[in-house]
Amino acid sequence: MKTKNEIFIDLLPLKTKRLIIRKVSTDDVDLMLKMDKQENTQKYLGGVKRKTFEERIAFLEKKASKFNEGYASQLTVCLSDGTPIGFTGLSIHENDSNAEISYLFDSDYTGKGYCTESSKELIRVGFEELKLHKIYGDTIDGNISSIKVFEKLGFTLEGTRRESAYLKEEDTYKDFLDYGLLDKEFKIKS
Ligand SMILES: CC(C)(COP(=O)(O)OP(=O)(O)OC[C@H]1O[C@@H](n2cnc3c(N)ncnc32)[C@H](O)[C@@H]1OP(=O)(O)O)[C@@H](O)C(=O)NCCC(=O)NCCS
Repeated sequence: MKTKNEIFIDLLPLKTKRLIIRKVSTDDVDLMLKMDKQENTQKYLGGVKRKTFEERIAFLEKKASKFNEGYASQLTVCLSDGTPIGFTGLSIHENDSNAEISYLFDSDYTGKGYCTESSKELIRVGFEELKLHKIYGDTIDGNISSIKVFEKLGFTLEGTRRESAYLKEEDTYKDFLDYGLLDKEFKIKS
């Protein structure tokens, strides 16, 4: 019997009205290097990254190889013409049928609803095709667009981890906000 990760991998690429969600590849190195340098993209992700081309190729090769080992790894979100604009992922746990959702987009393409659109499709596949029990994610207090995305997707704020996130560039601590969506809640909303 196939695992949930394997079923998910077989369903790729996913398509929505404006987007294609596919396996990550070394072709995405230029996007990754561009996003590494974007202060607004990296503010809540540990700060701007100074990685070399070779380091990012090695990173992407490692992520891409995970698919061959049967793990749903990092995904690339592209416009319908193939232009890569961001990364997303559904980290599926076989033992309890829960999964963590994550996302980050090139700031040249934010504020256009692309994160909400791609996340909706991951959530639909997660509950309808993979029969997941729960999808969860976290963000840092103050990351308004990420909070808005969780709210638009119908997630519930389940709790906070007080001052657990250290923002290096501001030398300050912020709360982690934990969000979750249960399969029964998805059924009610869809
Ligand atoms: C978080 C992120 C993925 C959202 O992507 P996106 O494609 O812009 O998301 P969407 O367009 O679907 O939704 C963003 C919403 O936030 C809103 N928003 C953005 N900045 C805002 C602000 N300062 N005040 C109020 N609303 C704001 C947008 O208007 C939009 O809501 P709307 O559709 O109701 O107008 C993107 O901003 C990003 O990559 N950020 C950096 C990486 C990151 O923080 N990732 C999340 C880690 S948990």
